[in-house]
Amino acid sequence: MSIHKEQIRSALSYVIHPKYEKDLISLDLIQDLITQEKFVSFTLELPRKDDALAALLKRECVAAIHKYADAEAVLDITVGINISRQKELEGDQPDEPKKEEPKAQEPILSGVKHVIAVASGKGGVGKSTVAANLAVALAHAGARVGLLDTDIYGPSVPTMFGVTERPNITTQKKLVPIEKHGVHLISMGFLVDTDQAMVWRGPMVTSAVKQFMQEVEWGELDYLILDLPPGTGDIQLTIVQTVPLTGAVIVSTPQEVALDDVRKGVAMFQKVNVPVLGVIENMSYFVPEDMPEKKYYIFGKHGARNLATRLDVPFLGEVPIREAIRETSDSGTPIVAASPSSPSAIGLKEIANRVHQMLALIDKESEGKSKVEIKIRP
Ligand SMILES: Nc1ncnc2c1ncn2[C@@H]1O[C@H](COP(=O)(O)OP(=O)(O)OP(=O)(O)O)[C@@H](O)[C@H]1O
Ligand SMILES: [Mg+2]
Repeated sequence: MSIHKEQIRSALSYVIHPKYEKDLISLDLIQDLITQEKFVSFTLELPRKDDALAALLKRECVAAIHKYADAEAVLDITVGINISRQKELEGDQPDEPKKEEPKAQEPILSGVKHVIAVASGKGGVGKSTVAANLAVALAHAGARVGLLDTDIYGPSVPTMFGVTERPNITTQKKLVPIEKHGVHLISMGFLVDTDQAMVWRGPMVTSAVKQFMQEVEWGELDYLILDLPPGTGDIQLTIVQTVPLTGAVIVSTPQEVALDDVRKGVAMFQKVNVPVLGVIENMSYFVPEDMPEKKYYIFGKHGARNLATRLDVPFLGEVPIREAIRETSDSGTPIVAASPSSPSAIGLKEIANRVHQMLALIDKESEGKSKVEIKIRP
């Protein structure tokens, strides 16, 4: 059920400003309130800068909304300073001497060793299929793995992992990822009706993703894989700038129209200084189920592989078009879990292993501080 603005206003009337000894609603300090399904966004307007007070009030707002309005609310609170309200709220008091306080920064994903984005310039190339199978392959190899489906307009994780339940919430009001096939999962699709999310504006999407970084109990993970929405627009750019990414993997199909978008993807990550771990070519060739020895290069041969060479980024491997890959994804068990010894699963596991190797190289580089060349061409 969608949260109403009135529920939020009523919850915030329990939050008392310690200095003015009145609640935030009576003081008219809540502006730009937006609610959409479980998402709530507003500005807490303070008459002067006070980071400690702002942090305290933000915490109390979150607690009050979760207690009195909706325990699953996803919040985005901005603090705004409106000095024109000083006189009205405080009378003619002289300004307190300003002292620079260090910004209290909540550590983002402090228990996660590597955050990897799975991106594509073009939609429908199999990004979510690859992300899901990479996650399962890394988990089966013994790593602790999380998968965050950031595609709010078309979340795939609920279908691909067969999740119908909602995540639990800890006493600290954090969402607990749902574990399936060894992977810790969070998807906007667990919380929001996708038809509703279609009308979300870009800033709401990016702040919801930010929220998933801070308000999900990810725990200790070796890898957190981010399934990005398709494209290289503002939403993707904001997400990759918000999250401390170790690297990005770009998925493409072999044909020329898709390859143009790979260039854009590589350029986007280079612009924000995120290493491109490599390109994965999906739907490289068709293998008929009854003639597994045949390969038909429907979309052209080695397009993404050749482009990776031209762009001087690693090529991580190719995945054929197989009915079994689609079927297993549609029925809630990615092929690496459903049929681990099939050729497709073995290929995907090899790709996961290459990603793992790339990250080991990056770790080595940051330990030794010497530049390590990362190039793998199978
Ligand atoms: N190698 C493959 N063989 C057969 N079917 C595949 C393969 N890869 C993906 N598919 C199917 O193609 C469809 C699109 O894949 P997927 O949802 O992974 O793409 P996407 O890039 O994440 O899409 P979007 O841009 O909408 O997020 C799905 O039905 C999926 O099962
Ligand atoms: Mg997808």
